[in-house]
Amino acid sequence: VGPDVIDIRKLYGQTGMFTYDPGFLSTASCQSAITYIDGDKGELLYRGYPIEQLATNCDFMETCHLLLYGNLPDAAGKEVFTKRVTNHTMVSEQMQFFLRGFRRDAHPMAIMTGLVGALSAFYHDSTDINNPEHREISAIRLIAKMPTLVAMAYKYSVGQPYMYPQNDLSYAGNFMRMMFATPCEEYKVNPIIERAMDRIFILHADHEQNASTSTVRLCGSSGTNPFAAIAAGVACLWGPAHGGANEACLNMLGEIQQMGGIAKVGHFMEQVKDKNSGVKLMGFGHRVYKNYDPRAKLMQETCKEVLGALGLENDPLFKLAMALEKIALEDEYFVSRKLYPNVDFYSGIVQRAIGIPVNMFTGVFALARTVGWIAQLNEMISDPEYKIGRPRQLFSGSVKRDVLPISKR
Ligand code: ACO
Repeated sequence: VGPDVIDIRKLYGQTGMFTYDPGFLSTASCQSAITYIDGDKGELLYRGYPIEQLATNCDFMETCHLLLYGNLPDAAGKEVFTKRVTNHTMVSEQMQFFLRGFRRDAHPMAIMTGLVGALSAFYHDSTDINNPEHREISAIRLIAKMPTLVAMAYKYSVGQPYMYPQNDLSYAGNFMRMMFATPCEEYKVNPIIERAMDRIFILHADHEQNASTSTVRLCGSSGTNPFAAIAAGVACLWGPAHGGANEACLNMLGEIQQMGGIAKVGHFMEQVKDKNSGVKLMGFGHRVYKNYDPRAKLMQETCKEVLGALGLENDPLFKLAMALEKIALEDEYFVSRKLYPNVDFYSGIVQRAIGIPVNMFTGVFALARTVGWIAQLNEMISDPEYKIGRPRQLFSGSVKRDVLPISKR
């Protein structure tokens, strides 16, 4: 019993303990067997497998299978699973009319929240979250359709025709083609970039009870349909303290570059350390990692590979990011608070080099995280003891009082 633990009997005359823990700093919201993080060691495991091994030896389809079903598929199992996904990559033609209702300059995450939620309007045959078959087909549909929806949102924003999925391509290759090809010219996917894209998906696939995953669980716990629950996750991911950090990080690097680049890094860091400035080093810090985020290391490697493959080794923003990291890792402010680069620090630079526009970064993150959201939702609903999520509160408002007639207030 610490200062944050209040005896509920004193508050409400009930038995049991009442824990007050804003931000869930030390309260587990569920039990899970999917993803393990050791924040002090900087270790991340999906179903027991280290993220480094998955990112090196597996592709995203294998990772999806692992997260959803708990095991890595053999070659035949992978083929069956991949075929199931590719069978569902198309979205209803009606979806483009829905999309047309948005302003072209709307933020793609605003559009994505709408599009994913709208899927519930198209798949009435699979909206019972308590039915395992409905959850299974919804999972496959969501994983299959997310790349199509993200690419449609992008094509709409630039006024280009939508590209239909091409199912003989890999998951990442198909996404890149839908993003970057046009009907009037031949498009060939660069295999190095395709592999990098796939790796970005693997690194973002799950991360236990982060804000968006907890949102999906809470939303799904009411018994709503799977598409609505995932749409809630998309909305939560958008925020700059979560998935929106990669966009915010690249914008920050761009601003420092405009101010004078590496020469101005010292000045920028002084602002970050000044608590009154409201400036944060975006892409740094994490609620769980108190060591280097292992995904950031892999992302930094991927960044080097992609920039090398595209002849952009001297990319000024990459150099700037490396300089910021070096200063931060030696600075007392960051060292004492155990602030290290997180996955978002380098992911924006890789995505920009691949050609993904900055405001689409979080959409790519949502695409990749969809499998994690679904796996977590399935895990929760499959537990016979699951209950609707209903956090308690520590009431701090007025005592009971009477309403006065309006003339006397
Ligand atoms: N820059 C400067 N100072 C920071 C940063 C940062 N990026 N992150 C944390 N701090 C400071 C805080 O001001 C606080 O200082 P104090 O103890 O003097 O008050 C201390 O470090 C602890 O930080 P909290 O905000 O209390 O940590 P919390 O766990 O609540 O927040 C978060 C974690 C939101 C990720 C935070 O580090 C942050 O805002 N980082 C920048 C945004 C970002 O990169 N988000 C992506 C996270 S990864 C993901 O979602 C995929």
